[in-house]
Amino acid sequence: TDAHTAGPFIAAIDQGTTSSRCIVFDKDGRIVSVDQKEHEQIFPRPGWVEHDASEIWTNVQEVVDGAVAKAGITAADVKAIGITNQRETTVLWDKNTGEPVHNALVWQDTRTAELCRELGRNVGQDRFRRETGLPLASYFAGPKVRWLLDNVEGLRERAEAGDILFGTMDSWVIWNLTGGTDGGVHVTDVTNASRTMLMNLHTLDWDDKLLESIGVPRAVLPEIRSSAEVYGHAAAGALAGIPVASALGDQQAALFGQTCYAEGEAKSTYGTGTFLLMNTGDKIVNSYNGLLTTVGYRIGDEAPVYALEGSIAVTGSLVQWMRDQMGLISTAAEIETLALSVEDNGGCYIVPAFSGLFAPYWRDDARGVVTGLTRYVTKAHIARAVLEATAWQTREICDAMTKDSGVELAALKVDGGMTSNNLLMQNLSDFLDAPVVRPLVAETTCLGAAYAAGLAVGFWPDTDTLRANWRRAAEWTPRMEDEARKREYKNWLKAVERTMGWVE
Ligand code: G3P
Repeated sequence: TDAHTAGPFIAAIDQGTTSSRCIVFDKDGRIVSVDQKEHEQIFPRPGWVEHDASEIWTNVQEVVDGAVAKAGITAADVKAIGITNQRETTVLWDKNTGEPVHNALVWQDTRTAELCRELGRNVGQDRFRRETGLPLASYFAGPKVRWLLDNVEGLRERAEAGDILFGTMDSWVIWNLTGGTDGGVHVTDVTNASRTMLMNLHTLDWDDKLLESIGVPRAVLPEIRSSAEVYGHAAAGALAGIPVASALGDQQAALFGQTCYAEGEAKSTYGTGTFLLMNTGDKIVNSYNGLLTTVGYRIGDEAPVYALEGSIAVTGSLVQWMRDQMGLISTAAEIETLALSVEDNGGCYIVPAFSGLFAPYWRDDARGVVTGLTRYVTKAHIARAVLEATAWQTREICDAMTKDSGVELAALKVDGGMTSNNLLMQNLSDFLDAPVVRPLVAETTCLGAAYAAGLAVGFWPDTDTLRANWRRAAEWTPRMEDEARKREYKNWLKAVERTMGWVE
């Protein structure tokens, strides 16, 4: 056996927006095996997005068994299981049968936009900002719970009677993994709870006033725990008996996996959406520029670490849309080849406001636009515009970060699936006018969950040890002329304006 297969190991489960996966890591934070399975994206109406939580749980069990089998190991070789997940996606289930009462409402779903406007009028934007760190937007979980309670026949009564449990996907996976109807634990971690609009960012507890304003009964809520501690043990499957020892929202997990442990350190993860998080230490930094204030992580009894976040709803999913809905490419990787077949965007800009616009605008009423079309534009120019959309959206977030934190980003640490696209990484460095660096292990989401679980069970002694595992794999530096950057940014911002107020 080579060094990669020498145990013991940590297993991480990432329940993401488009797929679930399990990765087994060794002590040096290297990948031993990966198994992954996609689940169905359900679009019942424009702006609505759902997942089948039962399908997701089946997939999670399969990928855990798959990753353990591929690694050629047994449960005895695994010291802990870490959990990370797509955040905000909301499921309610019957605790007596274990059955979801409705499809999960996905974070991208905009059906609660009107409800959020109503909350703004009745309770006020500022209250929510101050107590939760979040703007009122359809993105977050609390209003989704309210929607389900209002729209599934008889559900509110069942919830008030204590028969219904709420969870983001961390809670759903942990409850099922630790036994489900047969003793499953109903918990969430502070990072996931910080995305509900129901947790007070200062006390790190559910807030009765917020619960009342949004209309969510306390009886459905999980217990809020730290991001790294033993919540319970796997009840069945290839890892039966192994402690479940971490939970973090996927973006916070990536922050942890990128070893951004010092104040001012930041990362940006390129998945379905893109999320740039900056560690702000023990400070709750209020944003005046459209960012979120959120919990970065909390290790056991240690003090919580906070973060500022710039959330972009649509980046990788724009490439998927181009492949699946438009049929302009047949694989995601093809977009780079297609884009490289032309010199520039041919005057074309795409703003993918599919779920409204997230940071820094927070406009539920925005919808996507393609601008600058002439007879000259080909699908190759569109491919360019698709990649540039990701880079420009990041630029807008970085500008907001600089204004809020007063820190000019020296370099951007990136990770996630889209970072294998060299043209995109070059665009990013060009548009930011800063170096972009990618670590050797680009699967930082799973790595972060594994790190937190490993810390909880003493597999790794401290964060300094983890930091020593971080290795640079690639770096891109700016090549764009100042003047071109200015001109293109102006065009981009003009295109963004066109998206607003599309939905009444
Ligand atoms: O807030 C949504 C985010 O957690 C989703 O991440 O990587 O599944 O697109 P991802």
